[in-house]
Amino acid sequence: MPAPLLEVEDLQIELITPAGVVRAVDGVSFTVGRGETVTLIGESGSGKSTTAMGVLRLLPDRLAVLSGSVRLDGTDVVAEPSAVVPLRGRFAALVPQDPMTALSPVHTIGAQLGEALRLRHPGLSRAEIRQRGIALLEQVRIRTPETRWGAYPHQFSGGMLQRVLIAIALASEPALLVADEPTSALDVTVQADVLDLLLELQERTGIGILMITHDLGVARLVSDRIHVMREGRFVESGEVEQIVEDPRDPYTRALLDAVPRLGVLEVTP
Ligand SMILES: Nc1ncnc2c1ncn2[C@@H]1O[C@H](COP(=O)(O)OP(=O)(O)O)[C@@H](O)[C@H]1O
Ligand SMILES: [Mg+2]
Repeated sequence: MPAPLLEVEDLQIELITPAGVVRAVDGVSFTVGRGETVTLIGESGSGKSTTAMGVLRLLPDRLAVLSGSVRLDGTDVVAEPSAVVPLRGRFAALVPQDPMTALSPVHTIGAQLGEALRLRHPGLSRAEIRQRGIALLEQVRIRTPETRWGAYPHQFSGGMLQRVLIAIALASEPALLVADEPTSALDVTVQADVLDLLLELQERTGIGILMITHDLGVARLVSDRIHVMREGRFVESGEVEQIVEDPRDPYTRALLDAVPRLGVLEVTP
């Protein structure tokens, strides 16, 4: 059996903050295999983003201390932090949580998406990069992408920036996509389109996805497995059907109760 794309064992992450050390991630273990979508769900502050950033070693060393192991493509990047450099933006790509700050305000969308394409395909001409970039923007449902290529991030809405970030992550053709609340700023129809796009891409390429969300509707739609996270730990883990139909943990039940039932149209007379 091939090794998982991502194999996390007993990961702990301590954040060094002005107010003291916070154990934001407190011993989590999970895997993501080829073609799988594994979801971390939990409310704000439960440690989801810290986990996502930690597995890609995107937290600065002076602010975060990691222990346990994180094997990306078989290499433990906790033991060997520098090994992550050639893997990032190539084997594994991140869709960061905050679209407003993730892009450079002084470079055009085309320049930033083009840069990601150039890293992956150094031989492409400018015209080829533009052509591929526009096709990617089309895929993430940006309308009239030709006219958007030369625009700056401040000319885009939050939802459009979120889709641009997905396009940039996909530009590197990763084996593993870590997506931190990638559709939270989108309205429901565009959200459904973007999630469909990811699932279709997964069907076609076998990409593995670590999905991070606080939205059970999203989790239910995309996940093979779900880990329910609270205060840095997994309180419950399982197949999507089991978590949704038969939650064992009171916290999971509370999360479920907070979400309107999907798929049932209730008509009040
Ligand atoms: N830069 C930071 N400074 C101080 N505390 C932080 C910082 N980032 C995260 N934390 C703390 O770490 C915990 C987990 O945060 P986070 O991973 O962002 O949660 P989530 O993504 O689930 O909302 C929270 O208690 C949060 O307060
Ligand atoms: Mg977060």
